[in-house]
Amino acid sequence: MGTIAFIGAGPGAADLITLRGARLLARADVVLHDALTDPALRELAPQARWIDVGKRGFCDSTGQTTINALLVRHAREVNLVVRLKGGDPSVFGRLEEELEAAAAAGLATEVVPGVTAALAAAAGSQRPLTRRGTGRSVSLTTAMTRAGELRASRTADTEVFYMAGRQLGALSRRLREAGWPEGTPTAVVSRAGWPDALHSDHTVATLAQASVLHAGRPAVVIVGCGARPVRRGHPATGKVVRAASDDANEVVAAGQDALGPRP
Ligand SMILES: C[S@@+](CC[C@H](N)C(=O)[O-])C[C@H]1O[C@@H](n2cnc3c(N)ncnc32)[C@H](O)[C@@H]1O
Repeated sequence: MGTIAFIGAGPGAADLITLRGARLLARADVVLHDALTDPALRELAPQARWIDVGKRGFCDSTGQTTINALLVRHAREVNLVVRLKGGDPSVFGRLEEELEAAAAAGLATEVVPGVTAALAAAAGSQRPLTRRGTGRSVSLTTAMTRAGELRASRTADTEVFYMAGRQLGALSRRLREAGWPEGTPTAVVSRAGWPDALHSDHTVATLAQASVLHAGRPAVVIVGCGARPVRRGHPATGKVVRAASDDANEVVAAGQDALGPRP
């Protein structure tokens, strides 16, 4: 009987996996991976059999059952199965179901954390999620309920919404219903951690304007204290462009190519 290691691959670029994760991955016999993870990660485990179980191939609960069965089947045949997940396995990663399936089959498990999208977004956009004196709490929230309904909440000084990228207009309305004032700073960061990451600044009222810029890209929405730009005499990154449609919304290309040399 083998072991299943759940490893967080981080939000994008392969160099955001942890050292512990990379070392364990290098010993894998089989890797079941999400669609979001960087193909360059394969170079860390060229000996392993790589199986794509991302959402493109497997949807909803049937897909999850299939993934659970694959995990158990392979772990019975080899020493080490790695379940490589985008971001952190414990954050919106269906880890509970997969741990339970492994436990029911009597298999040993290990979980290696990864950089979740909210943290990569905060780093890339240089927006600290907590602020001394004003931002004491952070909430990671999925905007989608299990039934596929969009919901917003106001539970922390900074609330980071996952899985809302396709419905920013509706999220703006829900945020107002949840009690966020219209002028609250709101940042959208897509493909955080990738060289082509983008972030744009809005308010709760103008959030819908981010839809076109971030269309088709995984995105998180940071609302509240942690979305506020840090005060400084010059822009955080080398390249700052104005969105053509709305001068009030500052759009920052946060990718390395766009950054230019750091001051
Ligand atoms: C199923 S959740 C997985 C979250 C993942 N386990 C994590 O810790 O980041 C997928 C959602 O995460 C967010 N996401 C994933 N990768 C992202 C990235 N590179 N940039 C921004 N958001 C991302 C998006 O909101 C996407 O809809």
